Amino acid sequence: MKRGAAVEKKMTKVITYGTFDLFHEGHYRLLQRAKALGDYLIVGVTTETYDRARGKLNVVDSLTTRIENVRKTGFVDEVIVEETQGQKFNDIKKYDIDIFTVGSDWTGCFDYLKDFCEVIYLERTKNISSTILREQKQHIQRIGIIGTGRIADRFVLEAKLVSGVSVEGVYNPHTESALRFANKWEINVYENREEFYTAVDAVYVASPHETHYGYVKSALEHGKHVLCEKPMVLRKKQAEELMRCAKEHKLILFEGIKTAYCPGFHKLLGIACSGVIGSIRNVEACFTKLESENSRELTNHIYGGSFIELGSYVMLPILKIFGKEYEDIRFETIKNEKGLDIFTKISLRYPDGIATATCGLGVKSEGRLLISGTKGYLVAEAPWWKTTYFEVYYEDQERVDKYSEIFLGDGLRYEISDFLSMINGNHNNEFKLTRGESAALAEIMEQFMLAEGREEQLSERMENHGNMGTQGMQPKVSGEYADCL
Ligand code: CTP
Repeated sequence: MKRGAAVEKKMTKVITYGTFDLFHEGHYRLLQRAKALGDYLIVGVTTETYDRARGKLNVVDSLTTRIENVRKTGFVDEVIVEETQGQKFNDIKKYDIDIFTVGSDWTGCFDYLKDFCEVIYLERTKNISSTILREQKQHIQRIGIIGTGRIADRFVLEAKLVSGVSVEGVYNPHTESALRFANKWEINVYENREEFYTAVDAVYVASPHETHYGYVKSALEHGKHVLCEKPMVLRKKQAEELMRCAKEHKLILFEGIKTAYCPGFHKLLGIACSGVIGSIRNVEACFTKLESENSRELTNHIYGGSFIELGSYVMLPILKIFGKEYEDIRFETIKNEKGLDIFTKISLRYPDGIATATCGLGVKSEGRLLISGTKGYLVAEAPWWKTTYFEVYYEDQERVDKYSEIFLGDGLRYEISDFLSMINGNHNNEFKLTRGESAALAEIMEQFMLAEGREEQLSERMENHGNMGTQGMQPKVSGEYADCL
């Protein structure tokens, strides 16, 4: 330092974080005041993956748009991306931060940072938020449920956590079950299917398998978007027909395999296909869940059995990694006395790899997903279908890479949120389960039915249920299955 020069004052560095979706006055005022607290303002903008992982679903603007909007204010000296929980602490050290600030809706939440810098909660601007804007901008999609089984209960609970949708009502030809369900969740019950369709924008089909095709078709023909439980249908031709129908009517048709939409599963696929384990040569996926001998899953002589119940999950990583163009597929089953598969192994051969999918309702096994490549392998233990953790191993035994991701609640919220964003015209998530993959799954189910000799019975049942939409037929299901309808 030259003699006589003024001692240089350390610049005060301020940091703040947010999603900044649908940029509004509250954001602007916060950034303005944050800048005024010091000389240099850094803003951490959250990634979509981080937002989804922490349960903030339905962010409308892309990360680039949100960053651009933050920059446009002119208050910001540097923008960084917030990707993970715990990043704030590291950023404060890394950027030598003096003040951490955030809106008063977070009061108290960041007091733990007081040991490292000053923490200031700025008063939040009243009556404005991204949530309010999202709700004003987007019409709330009213969802109607067909079927009142266990999965429908979980759907209602999870749908409550996704902003932009409301469960409007339920339809089940078995009035008693419908009433019970409607009372439990305080939603409307419709005895007449036409009235039901008039009251909703989208339909969630959670009825027994044999009724899926008829209900999906009829809902699409009534101009409704459809989210259908897996397996959507058990025939490729039907899957393609329904997809075509959805396309013609400009509607969204989604198959509800929740794993496909869960953040951890995406991370896993991303890492597996990133080249870190080299070229993938083998995929093994196993899912077993013991069911009682008298359960619907182990007694329905056409739609029961392990593969119909769990096949969509175990086939998913295989189709995502190796694609639909397998050269050979084989099924091996162990059956119960009713002739239903209690344990099934599916072996697939691809030009550059092999795959095995195993599922069981009457035999327990180690449920894991193993992806082997030319440089290493990736393992996710059960319940990998709700992926929260996986590890990558290499030839060098000293090296193990560990990855984790949050999975909230039952996971259906991710599927519902993607369904909603598609309805709202955002097709960024379409790749998670493509129409082609859904059709491939239906084709594999069909081949399984053929191999099991259930094809003929299936055809008969299909004829009974296929025209429900146009002729108003009701599926003939009685007693214990009525709730599922
Ligand atoms: N903020 C504010 N006043 C508002 C809204 C937000 O001061 N009316 C502040 C928040 O406290 C936070 C920053 O702006 O410090 C970014 O908030 P963000 O969560 O992105 O915005 P919200 O409008 O609160 O979003 P959401 O409704 O999705 O929670």
